[in-house]
Amino acid sequence: MSRKIGVGLVGTGNIAYLHTLGYHDCPEAEIVALCDLNQKRAESFREETGLPGTVEIYDEIGKLCSDNKVDLVEILTPHASHEVLAVAAAEAGKHVSVQKPPAMTLSSYDRMVKAARKAGVRFRVFENFRYHPPYARAFELVRDGTIGHVESVNIRMFETFKCAGDYRGSKLRFPLHTLMWKTKESQNYKAPTLFDDGYHKHSIVQGFLGDVPGNEEQVTAVRAWCGWQKIAKMVKIDSPAVVIYETAKRNRYGTWNVNMVENLPMHSNYFTCDESLEITGSDGIIIAPGCTGNLFVGCECGGPGKPGVYWFSREKGKHDPPFPGAGSWKADTSMPTDWSQSFIECTRHLAAVLARDEWFDEHDPRPIPADRGRQILKINIAVIQSLRTDGAKSSLAAIKDGPGIDENPEDSKDLNPASEEGDFIDEDDMDRGINKE
Ligand SMILES: NC(=O)c1ccc[n+]([C@@H]2O[C@H](COP(=O)([O-])OP(=O)(O)OC[C@H]3O[C@@H](n4cnc5c(N)ncnc54)[C@H](O)[C@@H]3O)[C@@H](O)[C@H]2O)c1
Repeated sequence: MSRKIGVGLVGTGNIAYLHTLGYHDCPEAEIVALCDLNQKRAESFREETGLPGTVEIYDEIGKLCSDNKVDLVEILTPHASHEVLAVAAAEAGKHVSVQKPPAMTLSSYDRMVKAARKAGVRFRVFENFRYHPPYARAFELVRDGTIGHVESVNIRMFETFKCAGDYRGSKLRFPLHTLMWKTKESQNYKAPTLFDDGYHKHSIVQGFLGDVPGNEEQVTAVRAWCGWQKIAKMVKIDSPAVVIYETAKRNRYGTWNVNMVENLPMHSNYFTCDESLEITGSDGIIIAPGCTGNLFVGCECGGPGKPGVYWFSREKGKHDPPFPGAGSWKADTSMPTDWSQSFIECTRHLAAVLARDEWFDEHDPRPIPADRGRQILKINIAVIQSLRTDGAKSSLAAIKDGPGIDENPEDSKDLNPASEEGDFIDEDDMDRGINKE
């Protein structure tokens, strides 16, 4: 292609800000158009992100799709709206990148993929955690056999609602309009943790167990438990939570354990959480502390380690008694570890392959093309299924579509539906308390 790939962002809400980063000085692609039902939001987005006035603003996907400058459409709207937008973009001959979770049901997902295949355009799910540089490095270590065969993948996640940090120039990080749909049954199965954020975590567990050459153990079943917690006296969320991921081999499995601690002094520039990843293999261990937040930044005390990758593996013959054949620790903390880098890498990877008119290397575990995206969505739906049966085993083989909409009149009834543009959950709300039920 002689000109840069023209990108249209659909949805200029919370996450769209991080989607602009990878296009700064990007040699292959540039943002040429924005689309949002809310024109005012799109206009302030263009201004705040420093995009030029030449970037068109549309209020409807059809208009964006008629713009010949747009080659790739990035869909950054609530998941329940992804299908209509992705199908429209594909039918107009645009490549499609859709934020996670890509859809609410398998049939909805399949319709997007089918439309892309029929139109001969590319489709991928934007899942940035696999591009977080320490995780990308961990993928390389696993690929190179550093810890032998992967046996377990464990994610420990810490959340809080009070935290120091700055996102979009504000100490407040969750616009009410965003929180409203995230706690709705029809738009997120009322599961901002297990369904929305869950897609990332399921992707990481599935990725290390099953998507690195030599490690092809697919997740086959899950069990999910949560203790419902009320935040800011308004919103009930699915945290604390624990998910167990099973494979066909009982000794190869994953876990994700998350809880929200009211006064945890979390440092984060983005969402008020952080993660620590642990992978055990037949010959060693990999630990990657730090992802979304900055909990491990500045940790030089010999405690859990600053962000990066640490690994302990066997080194035959290099050790004296009493531990012959014992292992040794190594570390790589040289890579960028700010969470925003995962967005930049995820954005640029797609731009680079599209510019070369190629597609992702099937052995690269980072990208989420159609088939991988479907497997992770299946896990996501199985988790909701298990949650509804109080943690009973939910087999992926039994997942044919979605878990169904559970019509519960409790659906966010306390949340003020008339929230104004710019309303956020703020520190005063937090001071009114996080109530455990
Ligand atoms: N990768 C990540 O870490 C990450 C983090 C947060 C959100 N997300 C995902 O990004 C998506 C958007 O989340 P958000 O937090 O930015 O939501 P948001 O509510 O802050 O923003 C969504 C925007 O989409 C617009 N919109 C809704 N329907 C539309 C339509 N039909 N056409 C055009 N515009 C429309 C809304 O007006 C709003 O401005 C979700 O799928 C979410 O799961 C991903």
